[in-house]
Amino acid sequence: MDTEVQTRAAAPAAPQTDPPWWRHAVIYQVYVRSFADGNGDGTGDLAGVRARLPYLKALGVDAIWFNPWYPSPLADGGYDVADYRDIHAPFGTLAEAEALVQEALGLGIRTIIDIVPNHVSDQHPWFQAALAAGPGSPERERFWFHPGRGEDGSEMPTHWVSSFQGSTWTRTVNPDGSPGEWYLHLFTPEQPDLNWNHPDVRREHEDILRFWFDRGVAGVRIDSAALPVKDPALPELPTAPAPGAHPHLDRDELHDIYRGWRAVADEYDGTRILVGEVWLEDAERFARYLRPDEMHTAFNFDFMSQPWSAELMRRSIARTLAEHAPVGAPATWVLSNHDVTRPVTRYGREDSGFAFDRKRFGVPTDLAVGTRRARAAALLVAALPGTMYVYQGDELGLPEVELPREVIEDPMHFRSGGVDPGRDGCRVPLPWAGAAAPFGFGAGGSWLPQPADWSAYTVAAEEADPDSMLSLYRDALAFRRQSADLRSGALAWLDVGPDALGFRRGDRLASITNLGSEPISLPPHRGVVLCSAPLEEGALPPDTTVWLDL
Ligand code: GLC
Repeated sequence: MDTEVQTRAAAPAAPQTDPPWWRHAVIYQVYVRSFADGNGDGTGDLAGVRARLPYLKALGVDAIWFNPWYPSPLADGGYDVADYRDIHAPFGTLAEAEALVQEALGLGIRTIIDIVPNHVSDQHPWFQAALAAGPGSPERERFWFHPGRGEDGSEMPTHWVSSFQGSTWTRTVNPDGSPGEWYLHLFTPEQPDLNWNHPDVRREHEDILRFWFDRGVAGVRIDSAALPVKDPALPELPTAPAPGAHPHLDRDELHDIYRGWRAVADEYDGTRILVGEVWLEDAERFARYLRPDEMHTAFNFDFMSQPWSAELMRRSIARTLAEHAPVGAPATWVLSNHDVTRPVTRYGREDSGFAFDRKRFGVPTDLAVGTRRARAAALLVAALPGTMYVYQGDELGLPEVELPREVIEDPMHFRSGGVDPGRDGCRVPLPWAGAAAPFGFGAGGSWLPQPADWSAYTVAAEEADPDSMLSLYRDALAFRRQSADLRSGALAWLDVGPDALGFRRGDRLASITNLGSEPISLPPHRGVVLCSAPLEEGALPPDTTVWLDL
């Protein structure tokens, strides 16, 4: 047993050849439940991922980020974790996860896992113990249990608003059936918030990090990273809180926690990274998480939220690079993820920006326009300095699926009273091959229904088509991989007019995107490296990106 543990502890995250790998990596996001189904039960699994590793190798990615793969009742797609040291049984086993990490490494692909510090599942042993132990018990101190207000305690302790709409407190029932204390949950009632002022919570998470780093995992994505610490006085939400003074967002105490995590990561060889999911508008507050002794990178949702506009996108890029510069961290470029509307659908809409509170059923889109723009956006972000994320299926140009209400599982849908379609529309299982559902996803259907016309989007169909979205992604990532200019060349803006966005990387490479409605002429160049749509008589047509060899 001891020897086994020692061997594991020595598992490298990757060859030592590229310590700053994370500064320019292309990271592919796998939503396991919807990626590939190896055992034919209609749910994606680790066997499916292992079988498709060659696909990811051919795509040209450096790492995979897995959404939570732990045992979970799936009240929030796995962001309700019941055990951080095992694998959700329908996905496979811990041994399979260990094998997957090593097989991926054998192909030069690192693994990043998702850690959820803000809350656990209500089925987690700690929460079950807290419920059983009752008011005033040490078990309850690991969470935010609190008596209600008012004479009979029937009013919730605060009126904080959930990230999923609605209230953030649920009342418990005492063993004798009488109403008991309330507990805090910034998301669903099945996701009780942990009390990060408690030493057990901190110790436990550092231990979980070691558990996975010992298994060769190269990094962690930190879920809802600006939320875990709460003001123990539980005040109501102030109208305009001073920076750091919000009772449950972006509190200064968080930085000490992440410094502790960074120290754990730095104990390991091969640069194990911390990637924060940090939704904050204040650029300076955002950058604090990226100081040299904290996280390595954080998701850049500012750019992802921009509509299709040269001016707004240019401003966002400039702002992003400027906010990262003082802390020396690379920017990340994200077009979507498992929470947001697919780019081809979004960019084909009149309102092409992204905001959770604007999600509705039945918003029209022009998929031809959206797809053209998503192709241009892919080349644009692949040319920017920093890390690039690709959410599974975006490389196939999959549209958002408007699912029938009766199959939707996402709590965001239910908690909006059915107004918000929720996030399942971007989580529909991938089409791999064939003319009919489940399109090679597996041998036994798919947990969410795939549209009948997805035969045109299968990996097999797109591999055979040099003009497909998949071919564009492969070509772009292959070029990016061997281009010194794209890896480390400085960015310099080009004057390409108000409706276009152009910049040079290093000496020789330029990326120009036309977001206007008229073709634009190109600066002098030696050759065209890649183009998201054919040039028209040497000019760059609307909704197109070109990479030029200057
Ligand atoms: C993050 C995840 C999202 C999840 C939420 C609660 O925002 O990306 O999917 O629902 O945290 O854990």
